[in-house]
Amino acid sequence: MKKYNVGIVGIGLVGAEMLKVLSQRKFPAKSVRVFATRERIEKIDGKKYKVEVAGDNSFCGLDVVLFAGTEGARGASQKFGWKAVESGAFVIDNGDDYRMDSRVALVVPEVNPEDLSKEKKFIANPNCSTIQMVVALAPLHRAAGIKRIVVSTYQSVSGTGRAAVEELSVQTQDIIKNKIPKINVYPHRIAFNVFPHISSLTDEFRGYYKEEIKMIKETRKIFNSPDMRISATCVRVPVYSGHAESINVQFEKKISAVDAREILSSSPGIKVLDEPEKNIYPTPIDVAGKDEVFVGRIREDSSSENTLDLWVVADNIRKGAALNAVQIAEVLIEKQYI
Ligand SMILES: NC(=O)c1ccc[n+]([C@@H]2O[C@H](COP(=O)([O-])OP(=O)(O)OC[C@H]3O[C@@H](n4cnc5c(N)ncnc54)[C@H](OP(=O)(O)O)[C@@H]3O)[C@@H](O)[C@H]2O)c1
Repeated sequence: MKKYNVGIVGIGLVGAEMLKVLSQRKFPAKSVRVFATRERIEKIDGKKYKVEVAGDNSFCGLDVVLFAGTEGARGASQKFGWKAVESGAFVIDNGDDYRMDSRVALVVPEVNPEDLSKEKKFIANPNCSTIQMVVALAPLHRAAGIKRIVVSTYQSVSGTGRAAVEELSVQTQDIIKNKIPKINVYPHRIAFNVFPHISSLTDEFRGYYKEEIKMIKETRKIFNSPDMRISATCVRVPVYSGHAESINVQFEKKISAVDAREILSSSPGIKVLDEPEKNIYPTPIDVAGKDEVFVGRIREDSSSENTLDLWVVADNIRKGAALNAVQIAEVLIEKQYI
């Protein structure tokens, strides 16, 4: 079996999970090199990895480089992403820097693997909340055609990175000890609180935060439906891991809850947990560390025709980031693009 030289840039929450996923899925790696901003040894899942400092010439000889560095001008993708492509590697980027760039394929393997090609060597992973939504909606879209989506998210702090996970812990302990908690990462206290604010405001869609705009624009690109009607409200909740979404979706054609349950149950990457009379529906705690996108509370919305309500939960670090990136690399191998 052919084996591949793999690079990982960034070894925060997502990069560390990528190393776990590569090993758990027995990815055919000849070598795995890890890059970040400082040289050191990192222990992940009992295995030691030498971390090298990323530089313009780091990527020579690598077949695929998974980027899990910070976004923006000082982040890894903007600094080194295209350098890695110039070195001959396929790049799979987790950040937001290039998702909407027309040179870049935005891919969820269960939804649009046909957007991968030998030529487009820079591939982006969608935002975590977009990934789980499109995995759950794609089979229903194929069956009945989506007319409009209204989604509200309940997003865990691990979506922000290691500093936010630490902030939730420290604030929770401070409050329990009657101390005034310090606020560093978010604009508000996150312990015992929720707020409808993820990322920053932009002028593009008035009043919407960037995370909401990502869900709208990325979903349109993945479904190749530039005019799809979508509205999103993204909410941060004091949960360590796992994003939940309440989705109200209207279709062109009638689709019953029974049909939707059947379609979703036989679709790849989805697990239906939908027995509300027995208190069975997915929760972030139940899905932590799992690969699938979980769907429950599938019901017909009696206030609007051809409309369903769904509750969708997934592990944001796994399917929302690391796993999706590794699955893309697996499809590249399957299609013999690398
Ligand atoms: N967390 C999620 O749920 C999630 C989901 C989807 C996508 N993402 C995206 O995935 C990326 C990583 O997220 P994360 O949560 O793992 O972040 P994180 O925990 O903050 O880790 C960031 C990592 O990137 C490295 N890094 C930053 N700038 C770099 C540069 N210029 N060169 C090389 N390495 C650099 C850091 O290096 P040092 O360790 O040396 O500081 C660190 O290892 C982000 O773009 C994020 O938006 C995250």
